[in-house]
Amino acid sequence: MRLDKLLANSGFGSRTEVKQLLKTGAVTVNDVRKKEAKFQVNENTDRIEVHGESVHYEEFIYLMLNKPPGVVSATEDNWDETVIDLLEPQDRAKKVFPVGRLDKDTEGLLLITNDGVLAHDLLSPKKHVDKTYFAEIEGIVTNEDIAIFQEGVTISDNYTCKPATLVILKAENGASEIEITIQEGKFHQVKRMFEAVDKKVIYLKRLKMGPIMLDEALELGEYRALEDEELDQLMNAER
Ligand code: URA
Repeated sequence: MRLDKLLANSGFGSRTEVKQLLKTGAVTVNDVRKKEAKFQVNENTDRIEVHGESVHYEEFIYLMLNKPPGVVSATEDNWDETVIDLLEPQDRAKKVFPVGRLDKDTEGLLLITNDGVLAHDLLSPKKHVDKTYFAEIEGIVTNEDIAIFQEGVTISDNYTCKPATLVILKAENGASEIEITIQEGKFHQVKRMFEAVDKKVIYLKRLKMGPIMLDEALELGEYRALEDEELDQLMNAER
């Protein structure tokens, strides 16, 4: 494995940050200083140190799932199939969990990882990570709704949402298609936002979370590992 990948996977920052760290000469492999990002190491046998401290290698994985409807965003459930049940045994074995939740009937982008720090950062209310959804709505969505959502709509438990961006894609014959970007992840948030303006979400799909966009080549229920570039964008955006 490349030295920069091992360090990035062990919590020393993004690949870009790790390259900087290597340049400072802080890293040794079997007591020899290494500055080359693509230097190959054996994670099982080589002794890697950063500033003289030995690196405990932990393999983090980062997956993007196109969640199908009918499965729950949990690691275990007594009744329903979970998003973790959809994974190959070798991925499931890495103690992965979904980063936040999509409702059982919601489709689309769900990140799955075993990196608790990244998951925490992405979900932290302080970080305001944008989430974009496509939705089909019963009712005609109006410019007034756009203004209300932009202002901050008050939902069922008297909570006023942070400003959300609503784009109307289609509004005819009593039905609408929209895209909405929200900064939070309250329980049933998008559905409750539309209920607050007397409309009903009948289909919901997440398209984007932070810098990561759903790969439309993934069929429902399919998943893939994040590419290095996507992972870098995620790490740089959140840390
Ligand atoms: N908002 C919802 O109402 N449901 C989801 O699954 C995600 C956001």
